[in-house]
Amino acid sequence: MDKIVIRGGVPLKGDIPIAGAKNACLALMPATLLTDAPLTLMNAPRLSDIRTMTTLLQSLGAEVSTLHRGKVLALSSHDLTSERAEYDIVRKMRASILVLGPLLARTGRAEVSLPGGCAIGARPVDLHLKALEAMGAELDLRDGYVHAKAPGGLKGAVVEFPHVSVGATENALMAATLAKGTTVLKRAAREPEIVDLARCLRAMGAQVEGEGTDTITVQGVSALGGATHRVVTDRIELGTYMLAPAITGGDVTCLGGRLDLVPAFAEKLDAAGVSVEETDRGVRVSRKNGGIGAVDVATEPFPGFPTDLQAQMMALLCTADGVSHLEETIFENRFMHAPELIRMGARIDVAGGTATVTGVERLKGAPVMATDLRASVSLILAGLAAEGETVVSRVYHLDRGYEKVESKLGACGARIERVDDE
Ligand code: EPZ
Repeated sequence: MDKIVIRGGVPLKGDIPIAGAKNACLALMPATLLTDAPLTLMNAPRLSDIRTMTTLLQSLGAEVSTLHRGKVLALSSHDLTSERAEYDIVRKMRASILVLGPLLARTGRAEVSLPGGCAIGARPVDLHLKALEAMGAELDLRDGYVHAKAPGGLKGAVVEFPHVSVGATENALMAATLAKGTTVLKRAAREPEIVDLARCLRAMGAQVEGEGTDTITVQGVSALGGATHRVVTDRIELGTYMLAPAITGGDVTCLGGRLDLVPAFAEKLDAAGVSVEETDRGVRVSRKNGGIGAVDVATEPFPGFPTDLQAQMMALLCTADGVSHLEETIFENRFMHAPELIRMGARIDVAGGTATVTGVERLKGAPVMATDLRASVSLILAGLAAEGETVVSRVYHLDRGYEKVESKLGACGARIERVDDE
């Protein structure tokens, strides 16, 4: 298993290209199941989660080929051969549940393994299921699988989510495109990944309105066609790399970045003493004049501060002047990076859903390991700022969501390498 070794203390300078969004791509790929025509996705990220979704779609009979060294995905679900998403694939990646809505809408049947809990919390899928039931699906949970049927096809419905769910909004949105009549999704997620999915579905012939607001209206159509769609920029990769010059005291432009993708995050960086500027090349980040100030952060659905940037922001605040509070409101168990940061000399107290971070002058390199994707990259950011050597193990988490971390950071001067851990 690989490890990442970092010798910290170098202010990063240069350009970092930002890839297409993992979480957008993971919702766009299952949209192939809605049509027998080809779907082409440009600007796809090259990540292990994308390969897992590829395997899942192929197990259903879809054809998925990669072009341009993996940056273009050509998908076709002309001849589906199965409606069953097996546990062995679903257990690797929760986003597998996103095949449920489109499969059911297109074929009237689907069997999808329940994903179960994961490192960051219980993460149920009840909202996905309730939305499909409201559209007339008959669901039966047995043997660890959701057995879903819609013999006469799905029907449009008003679905009011009790709270915001990105995945449930995506599943319901895809299912609604082929349902009979009008579906209204209330308290829908507003994340840029939802907007991207809605745009792609519209290019395929779906009638969707209101994406980016909390009410999405879908007029069902009898069939969808093919499309070519460019995946939106990854706002979480963008935010992560914006933190690299902030934590090391350098000057980096995140190529292709846009501030409307990370509004609340950019505001907090600014409040912490980081200069954030949108240019025609992307987002340029440097420190305003010296140190980082303490700030309080609470995670929220978009356009609020993203839970997927909480761990990375914590790494920055470990070296701030003063006491910061980070409140995690989306997932119940998303502070596993805190004990690892403490091993690097950070002062963090976690009580319930809030972490209190008292800034220290300097983090110190240490061997650390990560339990999830965003936690692992927060340890890399901390390692970039720390004195001495940091060794991050279990980097397979990292490979789920960040392509070429070592070369992107290395090109800006970071002393970072991947080593084989025999
Ligand atoms: C998406 O997960 C992202 N994953 C996550 O990114 C991200 O953290 C999350 O949205 C929140 O922004 C993908 O897009 C593939 P939710 P998702 O449904 O859709 C609860 C990363 O690091 N809930 O918006 O699964 C749930 O437990 C990952 O890239 C229910 O109670 O998240 C959570 O507390 C990790 N019932 C809250 O809602 C449900 O049926 C929000 O979850 C569904 C969710």
